Amino acid sequence: MESGMLAYGLLAFATVAYLFRWLMPPKSSLPDIPAVTPTTPILSFWGSIKNLTHNKELILEGYHKYKGRAFKVPELFRWHVIVTGPKLVDELRKAPDEMLSFKDAVIEQISMDWTFGPAIMGNPYHIPLIRSNLTRNLVVLFSGVREELMAAFNDAIPPSDDWIAVPALETLMTIVSRTSNRIFVGLPTCRNPDYVDLNIKFTIDAVTTGIMLNMVPAFLRPIVGRLLTSVPKSIERGVKHLGPVIKERYRMVEEYGHDYEGKPNDMLSWLIDEAEGVETGARELVLRILSINFGAIHTSSNSFTHALYRLASNPEWTLTLREEVEQVVKEEGWTKNALQKMHKVDSFLKESQRCDGLGSVSITRLAVQDFTFSDGTFIPKGTFVSAAMMPIHHDEEFYENPEMFNPWRFAEKRSGEGEELKHQLVSTNTEYITFGHGKHACPGRFFAANELKGMLAHVVTTYDVKLEKDGEIPPPSWIAQSLVPNRTGKVLFRKRRD
Ligand SMILES: *[C@@H]1O[C@H](CO)[C@@H](O)[C@H](O)[C@H]1NC(C)=O
Ligand SMILES: *[C@@H]1O[C@H](CO)[C@@H](O)[C@H](O)[C@H]1NC(C)=O
Ligand SMILES: *[C@@H]1O[C@H](CO)[C@@H](O)[C@H](O)[C@H]1NC(C)=O
Repeated sequence: MESGMLAYGLLAFATVAYLFRWLMPPKSSLPDIPAVTPTTPILSFWGSIKNLTHNKELILEGYHKYKGRAFKVPELFRWHVIVTGPKLVDELRKAPDEMLSFKDAVIEQISMDWTFGPAIMGNPYHIPLIRSNLTRNLVVLFSGVREELMAAFNDAIPPSDDWIAVPALETLMTIVSRTSNRIFVGLPTCRNPDYVDLNIKFTIDAVTTGIMLNMVPAFLRPIVGRLLTSVPKSIERGVKHLGPVIKERYRMVEEYGHDYEGKPNDMLSWLIDEAEGVETGARELVLRILSINFGAIHTSSNSFTHALYRLASNPEWTLTLREEVEQVVKEEGWTKNALQKMHKVDSFLKESQRCDGLGSVSITRLAVQDFTFSDGTFIPKGTFVSAAMMPIHHDEEFYENPEMFNPWRFAEKRSGEGEELKHQLVSTNTEYITFGHGKHACPGRFFAANELKGMLAHVVTTYDVKLEKDGEIPPPSWIAQSLVPNRTGKVLFRKRRD
């Protein structure tokens, strides 16, 4: 979707939402939980618009006023409770699924039933494949990942003696899509430009459709969802690329069994091994692959864009990272194990996530039964609860000099005795919740960290980078609770000089 159309679409939806909101004020007003915006029905509508444009400020204000407790912010059709402080955050992540549900929160938040269809989260058999099988295979799949990311960078940003300006986010989406799909579907499909484009468009469409559907009342979502969704078309397009591959792999399974010789070791094979009943259809497998891409591309390319802007803002950092990478590679070669030893690379990305995470909140749950926190905060069924991620990541109590981007912050912490593993990019705790925390922490984070670290290590050893305006990072923007890097910003690249 073009950005002009997106703006008109959002405007139209905001207008419709406005009308509905007058007719349907939120049912439960959660009177015992303090709010940072007015609570009378009409003024709270204004608050929900403020939440759309100034979510960051609202969450920060609530955090500083009510730290250690809960507060609420208005959404269009309901209140959203935000918890703060390690104790409540810990209770939130430990709450049983039958009370505070992760799955229902995901389904509801991105209107999953009307965008992806009910099957993906109804039968999420791909999640254990991501969490364990993919993670376990990262060592053996590393050389493919490295080969693909080098080829993708080389195609998108050929090393040149002169500086060339590259649109950061757009370029990284292509690189992330190619690299991820090397593991999801393998060669040659992962390189096919139309397939790459499909995955990027699918991701963007799903995000924007989800945002729009959140602005219409629940009873209208099935109808509006059907009008807006591009999923059936995307599936058609995906079947063109993957249909023949899927057919051939099933033929091999039928002929030689599941462990046939030369069986590709990728997500598509694992899905085929695990799929049962209706899920064995080509359309269903394609939708599964598109959904996995949705989870991988948006988050990783946004995160890497933030990190790249930071890197380009200070050339010293490239030199420090380059030294570490070259030192480690001299001893280990380019392996997954080598990445493990690059503490500064890991720290740089983690600090980038701390400073410019994906948004203001994390660990979002939907109450499917009434729930009471230990401090007496009562959450009625149907209420969303999240943790105040951004203020936690910027709290002096947890981070010295929290407003400063200190790329080696976590590497320094790791040098303490017994601290080696606690401060890795993939480790979560109540003070670091970019990937969530607890049993629903992002299942793809080991895969994502591997990819992002491989990319950063490649960039610093291949290129010099700088920003168009010396040291000035193109401003990011907030869309409701999401922080997105500047989408038109450019980074200058040239072949490294030393
Ligand atoms: C308001 O804020 C909450 C929590 O940050 C967020 O989840 C929600 O989507 C926002 N609502 C709107 C309408 O922007
Ligand atoms: C995934 O891992 C589990 C646990 O080790 C194993 O039983 C299963 O066969 C694996 N699935 C695939 C498709 O490789
Ligand atoms: C992106 O950065 C440019 C300056 O590089 C700025 O003019 C533009 O407004 C920014 N875009 C957004 C969406 O903030």
